[in-house]
Amino acid sequence: MEEALTRATVPKLLVANWKLNPQIEAEAVRLARASDAKNIVIAPPFPFLVAVGKALKRATLGAQDVFWKLHGAYTGGVSPLMLRALGVRYVIVGHSERRALGETDTMVNKKARAALRAGLAPILCVGEPLAVRRKGLAAAKRFVAHQLRADLRGVSPSSVISHQSLVVAYEPLWAIGTGRAATPADAAEMAEFIKGLLVKSYKLKVSVLYGGSVNVRNAGAFLAEPAIDGALVGGASLQAAEFRKMISINQRS
Ligand code: PGA
Repeated sequence: MEEALTRATVPKLLVANWKLNPQIEAEAVRLARASDAKNIVIAPPFPFLVAVGKALKRATLGAQDVFWKLHGAYTGGVSPLMLRALGVRYVIVGHSERRALGETDTMVNKKARAALRAGLAPILCVGEPLAVRRKGLAAAKRFVAHQLRADLRGVSPSSVISHQSLVVAYEPLWAIGTGRAATPADAAEMAEFIKGLLVKSYKLKVSVLYGGSVNVRNAGAFLAEPAIDGALVGGASLQAAEFRKMISINQRS
């Protein structure tokens, strides 16, 4: 771990995706206080956004999903403007766990565009399934390129106001929640590929995060890759002590 501690050089973005955790608000506030640091985004479940937002002094508030309509008969919907009004700055869109429930690229595209229009920074998740990865990194790149083209259709550079306002998270499906992360070298190659593609096809300069089984042991190696601008962390972000160590890895320069 010492080695990992010395390898990260610039503070990058660590996004804590709590998913459907924790169960009660008091626990969410406790975890938020323990994770409150610069260059951190905390994405709690919707019901805890207000309490977590109040608890944070340095970290930025994120949401895990958003609907694309602003009002109307959409039971269960939460609009980007509602999130903005709560102080949310980033919103995860197209996470594979939502895609697995039936979310299509068309829906992800609507969410990303609605988020940008409302002044939220989408964290667009893309990544290939295991069957594709087994065919090699070139096949994985083709899969990711196809997702990006579909998910970013109609997104113009002018709608992406600054470098920070669109983030792509490369999250290979086989690495999420499995304890089997991609290698930092493969993740960096994919990050370069994504950046190159978006500059070429959309004139968009984006930050690219890696996500999928990032933990205290491997975080330093991912963050040390110049092409990787940070990490999207699920399980390890719920372990306060482990996440604090990841924060200090990120802050060491
Ligand atoms: P994990 O999840 O860190 O638990 O693999 C990452 C994610 O789903 O964003």
